[in-house]
Amino acid sequence: MPLIAILAGDGIGPEVTAEARRVLDRLDLDLSFDEALVGGAAYKAAGHPLPPETLALARRADAVLFGAVGDPDCDRLERHLRPEQAILGLRKELGLFANLRPAKLFAGLEDASSLRPEIARTIDMVIVRELTGDVYFGAKGIRTTAEGLREGHDEMRYDEAEIARIARVGFETARTRKSKLLSVDKANVLETSQLWRDVVIEVSADYPDVALSHMYVDNAAMQLVRDPGQFDVVVTGNLFGDILSDQASMCAGSIGMLPSAALDGQGHGLYEPIHGSAPDIAGQGKANPCAAILSAAMMLRHSLDKADAADRIEAAVAAAILGGARTPDLGGTLTTRAMGDAVIASLG
Ligand code: NAD
Ligand code: IPM
Ligand code: MN
Repeated sequence: MPLIAILAGDGIGPEVTAEARRVLDRLDLDLSFDEALVGGAAYKAAGHPLPPETLALARRADAVLFGAVGDPDCDRLERHLRPEQAILGLRKELGLFANLRPAKLFAGLEDASSLRPEIARTIDMVIVRELTGDVYFGAKGIRTTAEGLREGHDEMRYDEAEIARIARVGFETARTRKSKLLSVDKANVLETSQLWRDVVIEVSADYPDVALSHMYVDNAAMQLVRDPGQFDVVVTGNLFGDILSDQASMCAGSIGMLPSAALDGQGHGLYEPIHGSAPDIAGQGKANPCAAILSAAMMLRHSLDKADAADRIEAAVAAAILGGARTPDLGGTLTTRAMGDAVIASLG
């Protein structure tokens, strides 16, 4: 029986993950679950955001269902003890280099988007975000210059193998959709991006059936709100993908709607909403659990070979939304639990 590691984390993480778990339980899928502390909760209980037992469970499990980490109480800790290091450490330790972040507007949410309904309706894209490199994992620190000034530095770096393997995920993803791949970079300024572009073009030789194009990230941010319908599959680096996916979420109605899959290329994965621990609404039953529920669906599809069950969950979320179920981020009044109930009711 497949083992799912539940790492709910901090803030709204446990609230939304509980709803994803209820949906999975309702489907009777013959899954087993084990839970462990992660993030600020783990730091407070065990002195480290990613305790060895938690990492061991994540490795042992067939898939990880992750909530969110981040706690304002921990924002001044030494960096290696901060909650966010737990998710960065999991991605790195498990080799989860490919992050799929689908963004589409569920029918009925036109009014929740920041865009005009006729524009919002067109968004249906997947951001393929590289997840274990870039400025996130380069040399970093705060040092003192010869003039005695404090100087912060974070090295942006990618080697060609890292670029080629995420490019391949981009091309393969494009093949499952419209055979169009857009690579987003900043090659007009950054050497890292120039190498990125060169390597993506080299890899494209193996995918003559996929139409490759390129765009600078600043233009991409503008185009995303001007005409999101022009995007289909976008491959980009860790930092640009982080930012563009939060932006895409508001085109699609709410950050509470976007799931993600972090994959190692061999079927092992960690599944989490793209949002964080939302300390501003934590503990109030206001969080939208759809991103977490849809992340569970991605887990069934990508790690557990249960595409039918994934389809059922996605259809249930769509039906609940179409039926008017709305948490406050979507302009409604449902609690997190009531939104979970609405999805479960739609499972039939
Ligand atoms: P956030 O995503 O937590 O919240 C941004 C805004 O969106 C807030 O106003 C929040 O209330 C709202 N929001 C987020 N998820 C929502 C949901 N499901 N339903 C309704 N509203 C939702 O980002 P932030 O405020 O910049 O960061 C808060 C903490 O989370 C920080 O510690 C940050 O480092 C962490 N974080 C963690 C992850 C992760 O675990 N993968 C992702 C992003 C941020
Ligand atoms: C995300 C988050 C993380 C990231 C943080 C919490 C490290 O913003 O998952 O999108 O930047 O990758
Ligand atoms: Mn983010």
